[in-house]
Amino acid sequence: MAGTELEVRPEDLLSRTADPVYGPEARELIAGRTVLITGAGGSIGSELVRQCLRLGAARVHKVDVDETALFELSLELYDHALFGADSDIHLVDVTDQRAMSRLVERTRPDVIFHAAAKKHLPLTQSSPDLAVRTNVFGTESVIRAAVEHRVARVVNISTDKAADPTSVLGWTKRLAELVGAYHGTSTTRISSVRFGNVLGSRGSFLPALAHTMRRGQPVRLTHLEASRYFMTIPEAAGLVIEAARMSTENEVFVLDMGEPVRILDLITRYAALTDRPVPEIQVTGLRPGEKLHEELFSGAERHHETTHARISVTSVARQAGLEDVLAHLRRLIVEGAPAEAILAALAPATIQAPAWAPKHAAPRPVTTIRSARGRVAPRVRPSALLRPA
Ligand SMILES: NC(=O)c1ccc[n+]([C@@H]2O[C@H](COP(=O)([O-])OP(=O)(O)OC[C@H]3O[C@@H](n4cnc5c(N)ncnc54)[C@H](O)[C@@H]3O)[C@@H](O)[C@H]2O)c1
Repeated sequence: MAGTELEVRPEDLLSRTADPVYGPEARELIAGRTVLITGAGGSIGSELVRQCLRLGAARVHKVDVDETALFELSLELYDHALFGADSDIHLVDVTDQRAMSRLVERTRPDVIFHAAAKKHLPLTQSSPDLAVRTNVFGTESVIRAAVEHRVARVVNISTDKAADPTSVLGWTKRLAELVGAYHGTSTTRISSVRFGNVLGSRGSFLPALAHTMRRGQPVRLTHLEASRYFMTIPEAAGLVIEAARMSTENEVFVLDMGEPVRILDLITRYAALTDRPVPEIQVTGLRPGEKLHEELFSGAERHHETTHARISVTSVARQAGLEDVLAHLRRLIVEGAPAEAILAALAPATIQAPAWAPKHAAPRPVTTIRSARGRVAPRVRPSALLRPA
């Protein structure tokens, strides 16, 4: 969109390298394999496509419901679009269970990266039906297709908002993590990868800031102290591939994004890097469902290090009652229930942090916690965490 072009490279704003970070095992996971990527027209999905091609994938099937995004990706990859060389481009809605099953049966992927989602916090808050349909049932549909056709690995892209969720976005992404854990088998390993904001992704903070600053308008900020974890798109995609090669069972990998950054500081840095004065800031107040600071793990989750310095892991148990929660949500959506009813049904479906866990606490540094057998030691019974709707 005109006016949102970035004048600053995200890696300069974060003082980070933009280079993806994978080792030989990640290369081994992808090289010579067939990969299917949902949400391939989006920021994360398209970067996963590029990196898988660079890692020598035999075939990368790109799936999205946005035909223009697929057209543009095709143009980027093949220098022409929709002229036959791009038969690995698929206009498929991931929520269409039969279409997904047929696609997976036909393409026979070794690995699926599931990046298709609704991701905007205020929009998912006002349209919870579409968020549930895409983020929960879309993920379930991809996973069912993968299990049915014995795909070896599925990696569901999650978000830090799934940790102690307070928004429709967080709730639906947490449910998607649980759906993954519920369906995983020894044949189909399913894991999720959580991370924070990806700087410069489509429809995100940085393009909006570029637009506002270019027009010399005041910048709106929900809270002066609001902070987020940030990383670049290539960093995120590279670490997702690294995490994928480590998945052994039902787990959530969490990417290390360094320290959280105050959004106000990013605005100041953007102004300095573009030789502009610091803009006027209009504080609007936190939006419904928005946290002041994001957390990487819920208060109930125990996590430990992996062999990769920038990836931690927490295990996810199969949640008793999950099917009831999903059936209730499905019924509400089929019946066209109002947003309030879906919000009310979602809230109890959330994994609640135990009372001792501080809500909206400042992010904690990653620590190693192991039980005697080296696995994550749960403090609360998972069955106690999910209240059936
Ligand atoms: N961008 C970020 O800052 C960020 C941070 C953490 C996690 N994530 C997660 O990464 C994933 C991808 O985010 P993104 O930034 O690339 O978003 P994006 O909007 O750029 O891409 C999402 C893609 O999914 C597609 N899609 C949506 N519904 C679909 C459906 N029913 N069937 C098929 N395709 C569908 C969209 O058309 C779009 O191309 C999301 O799960 C998001 O929650 C993103």
